[in-house]
Amino acid sequence: MIKLAPSILSADFARLGEQIDEATRAGADYVHVDVMDGHFVPNITIGAPVVASIRRVTTLPLDVHLMIEHPERYISNFVDAGADIITVHVEASPHLRATIQAIKEQGARAGVSINPPTPIGAIEEFLPHVSLILVMSVNPGFGGQPFIPETLPRIAHIRRILDDRGLSAELEVDGGINADNAPDIVKAGTNVLVAGNSIFRAQEGISGAMRKLREAAG
Ligand code: DX5
Ligand code: ZN
Repeated sequence: MIKLAPSILSADFARLGEQIDEATRAGADYVHVDVMDGHFVPNITIGAPVVASIRRVTTLPLDVHLMIEHPERYISNFVDAGADIITVHVEASPHLRATIQAIKEQGARAGVSINPPTPIGAIEEFLPHVSLILVMSVNPGFGGQPFIPETLPRIAHIRRILDDRGLSAELEVDGGINADNAPDIVKAGTNVLVAGNSIFRAQEGISGAMRKLREAAG
């Protein structure tokens, strides 16, 4: 069963609780939270206090995607705020092994993320140590960008490595996902689809968009 992780980046932050509730009732598996620092990516979003507020209104796992420099400095803030999965970028962390270890020791699941231009070899050594691999299908920083099609062979490549090595980490893809491209992304070997714009800015509303994505994802 493919998991759906609506990204609140495209939600209406004044109605965040309500919108998370609607996505949850419509079958969301994770709540994807994009944390941006204005350094690792050009945009600034939200931090641990907002994660703590979301924690109080949902029982779904909080899938926290850190697009920040020096993520190791903030792990305990996000764990204390109630993050279940904390994902750090291979491009942002010179001491990734230690950061992954710190996330796990503090009781969260650890994820590693990779940007579109970064060679897959950069994450290979970390695959046995994480619960989730987050493949970016846009350059991170903004919601509503188009899916980069060159991501498909990258997903398939990582899927092969995981299967060959008998690794059970989830393979999550993030950026530009909608009901039209979801079937190909799933076919390439993804288990978790992140979607922001196509859910929270959908004409058919959040529930309608969730249903459409669920049908497309299979
Ligand atoms: C992009 C973020 C994504 C973003 C996806 O930097 O990591 O999670 O919210 O949004 P859409 O689905 O609109 O591309
Ligand atoms: Zn994200």
